[in-house]
Amino acid sequence: MVSNRKLEAWVQEVASMCQPEKVVWCDGSATEYQTMLRLMVQAGTAQWLDPGKRPNSIYVRSDPADVARVEEFTFICSKSKEDAGPTNNWRDPDEIRQTLTGLFAGCMAGRTLYVIPYSMGPIGSPIAKIGVELTDSPYVVANMHIMARVGTRVLEVLGAEGEFVRGLHSVGAPIASATAADSPWPCNAQNKYICHFPETREIWSFGSGYGGNALLGKKCHALRIASVQARDEGWLAEHMLILKLTNPAGKSLYVGAAFPSACGKTNLAMLEPTVAGWKVETIGDDIAWMKFGADGRLYAINPEAGFFGVAPGTSMQSNPNALRTLGKNAIFTNCAITPEGDVWWEGMSDVPPPALLDWLRRPWTPQSNRKSAHPNSRFTVPARQCPVIAPEWEDPKGVPISAFLFGGRRATTAPLVNEAFSWQHGTFLGSIMSSETTAAAAGAQGQLRFDPFAMLPFCGYHMGDYFAHWLKVGGASTPEKLPRIYYVNWFRRGADGGFLWPGYGENSRVLKWVFERVTGTGQAVDTPIGRLPAPGALDLAGLDVPKADQEELLRVDAKSWLADLPLLRAHYEKFGTRLPAVLKEELDALEQRLLAAK
Ligand code: OXD
Ligand code: MN
Repeated sequence: MVSNRKLEAWVQEVASMCQPEKVVWCDGSATEYQTMLRLMVQAGTAQWLDPGKRPNSIYVRSDPADVARVEEFTFICSKSKEDAGPTNNWRDPDEIRQTLTGLFAGCMAGRTLYVIPYSMGPIGSPIAKIGVELTDSPYVVANMHIMARVGTRVLEVLGAEGEFVRGLHSVGAPIASATAADSPWPCNAQNKYICHFPETREIWSFGSGYGGNALLGKKCHALRIASVQARDEGWLAEHMLILKLTNPAGKSLYVGAAFPSACGKTNLAMLEPTVAGWKVETIGDDIAWMKFGADGRLYAINPEAGFFGVAPGTSMQSNPNALRTLGKNAIFTNCAITPEGDVWWEGMSDVPPPALLDWLRRPWTPQSNRKSAHPNSRFTVPARQCPVIAPEWEDPKGVPISAFLFGGRRATTAPLVNEAFSWQHGTFLGSIMSSETTAAAAGAQGQLRFDPFAMLPFCGYHMGDYFAHWLKVGGASTPEKLPRIYYVNWFRRGADGGFLWPGYGENSRVLKWVFERVTGTGQAVDTPIGRLPAPGALDLAGLDVPKADQEELLRVDAKSWLADLPLLRAHYEKFGTRLPAVLKEELDALEQRLLAAK
């Protein structure tokens, strides 16, 4: 095996700090994966699902104190506070290192320290990057096996001198003595710290074993650290799905779409179009890394190898391809379990099973008056199992992106779809994205917050500089080679409070218009906020939506936009002098256009 000097030294240093019982270097083999599943079952962390229904799949329940990303304990520890910007929690790197060193000292007692070399992106792709996660959680090892490419083959690419992102993770629950009982889901309810050191490309995560807090390749590396690398090296690391869209004539293009957590990225990435003859295939459902090719176009890879999706609401109606993907080799966390040993969650079927055990192990019936699955319950499953995975999803050179969609959950104001006038205007639209909060993060739900580019919880540096980086990327190619930018909103509500747009497969109608715009046939009209589909340009044939609702969906409500302007200005104020001047000009220009249209 190739040995990397820096990696060996770091593993030794961490082992002497954390005092694990033993150190295991993960090879990434199928045998190793099965060992992790068995260990979890033996420890009471997991149980097997009925192999007749879901072969080789397990069901896990976490501690109720550890169910989501913890944004208030997530820190960017750049040398200067100013570099973390107003949207991140900041800690002084030297001070937090002292706190963390205290917490990590002896924290793996009685546990195994696993060394997981991983590649974000197809191994050896020029866009991929290598990281190593050190963790004391078999749940993390198993999930990393699915979510990234892991093991010996990564060490071979890393070589003796290669650079890697260092991710240290502990559940923060040492086992006091050889006879002490372990908890089925060890974590630390008092101390959680998810710390990022952008300058030294390091992550230290303590106290949580759940999702993005613990699977360090995902949010911590592929977004927070990678966004800093991308800024420094001239590329993009984004919270975006990537899909391939093919028209009835067989012509394909690729779309990246940024929506906040739990706003339907997985559903859109695997959508079954209702428009006849159109096809959607999946490249990725959560993260895109993009670099310019020699032809001046942006090429994207999905740095992940699996899906870590929100379970509730996933059904044969909302996302049949996700359910098909979940037929085997899956890990389910915090959903409910049926007496027959299968999983269930709210929305999975119209009629709930008559009896379940809920995610808190309590008997549950449809009369129980509470949810059986945690709203942030998740599935982890290999992307290759998706029946609509695009054949080129692992192409090391990536796929050329023709359009970006931005969007969020907005009950009012934002129309169904709106094309940016230019890259600069698109950057403006990304910078003012807002959405109602969801259960993907701990805290209140349903509150409107600005979530620029869906990166609010994931940008590893000052967001004003991030906007500037987007503008710079736009300047690095010619307008006709850059992706066109769109703002979409599937979540607008009518006067009766109901959704105006059916969503899911019907979103293919919007994708079709985007395709036609990009290829030059789609018609649009200019409005103060951007270009909207010209009358008749959006294919609504056969759609069961009343005419008045169709009009409302595409109505530019100048009054609500004007009413939002003070909020937009206050949002921009936060970025101070680091807000690019041209974005402020875009905001002023929007106001002028809205006033002129009033
Ligand atoms: C996710 C998230 O898990 O955005 O993808 O929270
Ligand atoms: Mn996400």
